[in-house]
Amino acid sequence: MSSVADEVKRRRTFAIISHPDAGKSTMTEALALHARMISEAGAIHGKAGRKSTVSDWMEMEKARGISVSSTALQFNYTPAGWSDDDEPAVINLVDTPGHADFSEDTYRVLTAVDAAVMLIDAAKGLEPQTLKLFQVCRHRGIPVITVINKWDRPGQTPLELIDEISERIGLTPTPLYFPVGIAGDFRGLLDRRTGRYIHFTRTAGGAKIAPEEIMDAEAAAAREGDEWVAASEESALLTEMGQDHDQELFLAGETSPMIFSSAMLNFGVRQLLETLVELAPAPAGRTDLDGTVREPTDPFSAVVFKVQAGMDASHRDRLAYMRIVSGEFERGMVVTHAQTGKPFATKYAQAVFGRDRSTVDTAYPGDVVGLVNATALAPGDTLFNDPRVQFPPIPSFAPEHFSSLRATTADKYKQFRKGMDQLDSEGVVQVLRNDLRGDASPVLAAVGPMQFEVVTARLKSEFNVDTVIDPLGYTLARRTDAESADELNRQRGVEVFTRTDGALLALFSDKWRLQYIEKEHPDLTLEPLVATA
Ligand code: G4P
Repeated sequence: MSSVADEVKRRRTFAIISHPDAGKSTMTEALALHARMISEAGAIHGKAGRKSTVSDWMEMEKARGISVSSTALQFNYTPAGWSDDDEPAVINLVDTPGHADFSEDTYRVLTAVDAAVMLIDAAKGLEPQTLKLFQVCRHRGIPVITVINKWDRPGQTPLELIDEISERIGLTPTPLYFPVGIAGDFRGLLDRRTGRYIHFTRTAGGAKIAPEEIMDAEAAAAREGDEWVAASEESALLTEMGQDHDQELFLAGETSPMIFSSAMLNFGVRQLLETLVELAPAPAGRTDLDGTVREPTDPFSAVVFKVQAGMDASHRDRLAYMRIVSGEFERGMVVTHAQTGKPFATKYAQAVFGRDRSTVDTAYPGDVVGLVNATALAPGDTLFNDPRVQFPPIPSFAPEHFSSLRATTADKYKQFRKGMDQLDSEGVVQVLRNDLRGDASPVLAAVGPMQFEVVTARLKSEFNVDTVIDPLGYTLARRTDAESADELNRQRGVEVFTRTDGALLALFSDKWRLQYIEKEHPDLTLEPLVATA
């Protein structure tokens, strides 16, 4: 039997951060193909006639062709050059919600990973959602591998893309593989560390792993002519500029190993997997509330990073996803829920990806396990086996959208209240209340407005309550205290609320109103709701 330390060493847990349409679903599928989880690609990618991606779960998602949920995919991978006697690497891919709108889920998922793959469309370069997600990675110190995708289609030049990333986000790309052939004429990759050429051959419809032919520079020059020369020269230029891979700078978040790919043709996918195994960090310890580090080889502990209900009609239950931080997890073991001190039985632990579930028997640091019917668990909670440990809460992000919510008929009040409590505890939105508005019309606060639609859709489908959302004229929130609340409530364009966690929040119509009040009443407590990572 292998030790926890060995299991940790061979694990890599990452998420793909990208803007919608950059090819995240296609890449996920290509990774699954290379890991031989599926034998043919094409079933889950492509929106035209899409069978729906494996991570889609709500009707709303299907209608929009987006994914609102977050789940995890685990697969084994044996890099080229590893012997059959080696235990394969274990890769955990944690899915990030893929819609253009933003919600807290996305941030929470990023607290569960050790590395991120920033997937960029070669023609579009850095897009808004990628930027936002990148900022979260930077804030949390998550190292980023950059993949320029869709190289089989016309796009920018490699050096333009490299410059754009350096200049706009201050991350220095250090390509590991440089494309041979311009965007739209993807022939293969120059392996900058060995100087060798990897030539790819297309398969019909990109359904199978693309065969590779590896050759030295001389053979590459004979085969690709000017394209090889251009790639070699640009690669040499990068070396001159100091843009070669440096593991320390990568882990410090200053540089980013870069790969060029076509997820659709399965080019560059093996290279991505091998880069993850070779360079991405294995699960590390996590600092607890007391400032002590829980090492991966310490007794079991885990953090809940996502709670979700109503996954689909045949599994109407509540699932909490935990990322294991330390120790060995065995299904059936009874652990302690740090927030309540109560025991929690893990009889129904599952690996979940989209609709497919399978029972998990053992899991190790870096793995994601779904716990069924976990009604007591909320995002940020800690589970452990002695000695006791509690990890800091997951940072919550400042909401910018505020709406009031009410049921259209008064007779469903009980269900309405129950549904709101449920969605609140899952962290779908933040729920704010005050005496003036009463319990029947709480105010919802969200990072992105689509969170409101999720609330109304779920209240309808799971609690059978029709609700309406009325946007409020507030655009920002500040944390305040009881002493300041009365004065704030007297101000025009300001309203004070109590959040479920007890925090007092003052909402303002706009930043000028806030500035004016700060100036007129310097004694009032008004603190920004910043991320507390
Ligand atoms: P997402 O999850 O990031 O939103 O992107 P998704 O994988 O759904 O890909 C978005 C579109 O881009 C799809 O096209 C997909 O086929 C295409 N695509 C993804 N990777 C590549 C690539 O490497 N090269 C090329 N040329 N296209 C790629 P679609 O038009 O929406 O569907 P389909 O009609 O092509 O199936």
